[in-house]
Amino acid sequence: MCGIIGTTGVDDALPILLEGLHRLEYRGYDSAGVVLVSDGVLWRARRADGTHSVEELFSLSGTAPAGAHTGIGHTRWATHGSPTEENAHPHLDCTGRLGLVHNGIIENHSELASELVAKGHTLTSQTDTEVLAHLVEDNIAGGASLVEALRAALLRVRGSFSVAVVHADDPEVIVAGRRATPLVVGIAKGGTLLASDIPALLGRTRRMIPLDDDQLVELRPDSVRITTLDGEEIEPDVRTIDWDLEAAQKGGYDDYMSKEMHEQPQAVADTLLDRRKPDGALVLDELRLTNEDLERIQKVFIVACGSSYHAAMVAKYAIEHWTRLPTEVDIASEFRYRDPVLDDRTLVVGVSQSGETLDTLQAMSEAARWGAKVLVVSNVVDSSMARKADGVLYTRAGPEVGVASTKCHLAQVVALEILALTLAQIRGTQPAEAIALLLDRMHELPDKVEEALGRAKEVDAVAEAIAGARDYFFLGRGVGFPVALEGALKLKELSYLRAEGYPAGELKHGPIALIVPGTVVVGIATRNGLFEKMLANLAEVKSRGATVVLVADDDDDEAAAVADHVLWVPPTEPLLSPVVNVVPLQLLAYRLARMLGNDVDRPRNLAKTVTVE
Ligand code: M6R
Repeated sequence: MCGIIGTTGVDDALPILLEGLHRLEYRGYDSAGVVLVSDGVLWRARRADGTHSVEELFSLSGTAPAGAHTGIGHTRWATHGSPTEENAHPHLDCTGRLGLVHNGIIENHSELASELVAKGHTLTSQTDTEVLAHLVEDNIAGGASLVEALRAALLRVRGSFSVAVVHADDPEVIVAGRRATPLVVGIAKGGTLLASDIPALLGRTRRMIPLDDDQLVELRPDSVRITTLDGEEIEPDVRTIDWDLEAAQKGGYDDYMSKEMHEQPQAVADTLLDRRKPDGALVLDELRLTNEDLERIQKVFIVACGSSYHAAMVAKYAIEHWTRLPTEVDIASEFRYRDPVLDDRTLVVGVSQSGETLDTLQAMSEAARWGAKVLVVSNVVDSSMARKADGVLYTRAGPEVGVASTKCHLAQVVALEILALTLAQIRGTQPAEAIALLLDRMHELPDKVEEALGRAKEVDAVAEAIAGARDYFFLGRGVGFPVALEGALKLKELSYLRAEGYPAGELKHGPIALIVPGTVVVGIATRNGLFEKMLANLAEVKSRGATVVLVADDDDDEAAAVADHVLWVPPTEPLLSPVVNVVPLQLLAYRLARMLGNDVDRPRNLAKTVTVE
């Protein structure tokens, strides 16, 4: 997730771009950069100083050409290529007369890069983006206008993009386009603007046009022309935005948690992008291990904390089932001190949204000390863990502001299941057709998550019905067990209510003594091999007076028959079901917390990144 800003004609471009970048920093701040069009040339400045990147650009203002009224800027959340200045946007073409910024992922960048290099282009970064600048350059050299050159380039790319381009030969024009990532046009006095979101433009204008997928826009100081990628003219739909700045930063949602829950379909889709080569081989982001190393592995450990630990638990089921590799899951703070048995045939996978959690970081160091192969699943490119590990698999969820993890947790489950399939492929434990089918099912997950999110009102009604209960149990079996743990953790963190996650079959060995009339039991009862047993366990709590809330597959009357309330979800493959099933539990915890008046973005006593033992 990166941020894009552009302006032409409004006023001096640089202060507008810097102010916009400042407001877009929540979308990532690995690096920032701007290009101004001035006197027939481009002036570019880029900085890669983490949280200080935009600030550093401010300090360069004195060296910028005066009076430039057209420019584009970018703040980066690195996906392809480290967060260095060389990889920072805007990227230039070979002539240095074209500047381009991009948010999203170009899936076929490798094949496009090979083609461009063969034609004589010089690529200077490790990003997926740079190919776009050279594709547009190529089309212009063939006689196309800037807008037609971008159109032709975008028709060749697979993946997601919002992209903006300027050219020294067209000093007052910005051309931009989008697919699957946001872009909004602003109409101001004397000029026009462009940004990844509304807040970046508030203060300059309230008159905005949100672009739709596969649309291109040509911005000039006095006009906005929108066409589809196929060239059809579109009548601009100008809206007046009446949100205040804070509401706008949350994208119109009441809080970051809500916004981030609604970004989950995108986070899952982005994490899946670009994983399958044309020959069907699966690829991780940075793997400093050979296939031979992975073939030699005899045992897997996955270490993590909190929600990342629950994602790791799901992965244990997937890895053992698909690869037959013995897999242990460990709480990071326990792993390090319990003298685990590790050697160079052990794979240790650290899972961490931040990539900085001290317990997980130290567990990984311990694993490396014993000669184990170390992989990390992280949301932050070049985080401490990513730098230490032998291999990295990134969850591409974008920055998560809410302290309670939502979109990163879902992306972790997806990334770990890709890792499980990669191991199955390399070790030959699953036929190619089975892997292809599972990947197809995984690509259906964003829509299913979207559907589950669309049922928030039904979840709210359940929350109203059970509010006031003192004790909550979350029960699951198989992959439903980590879902139950995650549901209980969300409820604890957000609502401060007593909630226990438990394996449903274990309840009768003790904790069932706590079930009394009024206890709420939330059961994960979507269809899998343990469905009948799960219903039997639920009957045990129901007969003791518990109020039973079930997460169940759509139209499953058998499940509904044992429930007081049902949270319906669209069905999917059992091993993939945690990605969908956790969504109603997030919504339930959110609603109960809001009803209690709690701050869902900053729950008491917690921190987003825990860098102490
Ligand atoms: O950054 P990490 O994934 O390593 O963080 C791990 C936990 O601290 C984190 O998941 C925590 O439990 C969240 N508050 C869960 O919502």
